[in-house]
Amino acid sequence: MNSFKLIASLVLFTGLVSCSSNHEKEHQYHGNFEKIKALEVDSISYPVNSLDLIGQTTLVEVKTEEVTFYIPERKSSIKSFKCSECHTKSIPELKASNLTGKRAHWNIELNHATPDVLMCNSCHPTQNLDNLKSNLNADIDFNQSYKACAQCHSSEYKDWLGGAHGKRVKGWVNPRISQTCVGCHNPHSPKFETRLPSRLNTKKIEERR
Ligand code: HEC
Ligand code: HEC
Ligand code: HEC
Ligand code: HEC
Repeated sequence: MNSFKLIASLVLFTGLVSCSSNHEKEHQYHGNFEKIKALEVDSISYPVNSLDLIGQTTLVEVKTEEVTFYIPERKSSIKSFKCSECHTKSIPELKASNLTGKRAHWNIELNHATPDVLMCNSCHPTQNLDNLKSNLNADIDFNQSYKACAQCHSSEYKDWLGGAHGKRVKGWVNPRISQTCVGCHNPHSPKFETRLPSRLNTKKIEERR
């Protein structure tokens, strides 16, 4: 009887000790974000690194309070950049001088929201066109055009920051490199064309039987 009591109290005691030490560990971190950060493995210890894989692409940092990651830079792939090579005057002045008699940017048609919501000058200023502009006329660098999109598409923007919308480029190894909004959506016509699913190849299925 006595030995049973002894064993029982020993079991209870060790139980209490392990419980309290677990409890302490959990409280080292204020929330999961901090815990994940602290336990995160540094990318340098991986044999392959996404920065090596992306090669020559120049990257732009996206940094908020909660996440830091990289997106490919855009300016070098925008054909008519620098805009200021032609846009030496304001747009009304350029239009008035009508250099060629033809409309410039004839190939750009706005198919995004409605004209009462979005016009060329919602995103492009009428002067100093080498930057985009915000709704409140602040400059937005072409490499950070996601900031323009975020003004109206805040839920997609938040999903994108978290990694749920858009695409991670070059795998899951840190540092994180993601595609930017305009890497997938044409800002002038952001909707994807609908397409038919590719036809089921019945012949191949026959052959495999
Ligand atoms: C090769 C010369 C050239 C380049 C480069 C150029 N533009 Fe233009 N752009 C013009 C001219 C000329 C006009 C005046 C419009 C007209 O005469 O039809 C114009 C007009 C515009 C307009 C007003 C369109 C409208 O219908 O109100 C926007 C917006 C614009 N440009 C944006 C840009 C941006 C952004 C860039 C750089 C990424 C750029 N342009 C580069 C020549 C150019
Ligand atoms: C929703 C914002 C938005 C609106 C509205 C908009 N643009 Fe743009 N435009 C952009 C962004 C962002 C880019 C750069 C895209 C990239 O990084 O490839 C761009 C790029 C351009 C370029 C350079 C394209 C190239 O490949 O050389 C021209 C020219 C241009 N816009 C003219 C216009 C004109 C003209 C209008 C109105 C008909 C217009 N934009 C309306 C956001 C906008
Ligand atoms: C000033 C507000 C505004 C800005 C800035 C803006 N958008 Fe939009 N966008 C809209 C509105 C309004 C619609 C139409 C919404 C609808 O039909 O439900 C829309 C529609 C879209 C759609 C859905 C198209 C479809 O019909 O499926 C996409 C994708 C999109 N925008 C991407 C972008 C991207 C990328 C940028 C930045 C380059 C951007 N938007 C900037 C207001 C904006
Ligand atoms: C890797 C490509 C990719 C990137 C990057 C991306 N999107 Fe999208 N987006 C998509 C696809 C695919 C859809 C679904 C289109 C459909 O259903 O037709 C979509 C849908 C949308 C829609 C329409 C949502 C709806 O419910 O109809 C909006 C608005 C949008 N994206 C905005 C953005 C913004 C803003 C960013 C940047 C912060 C962004 N996207 C980045 C691929 C992308």
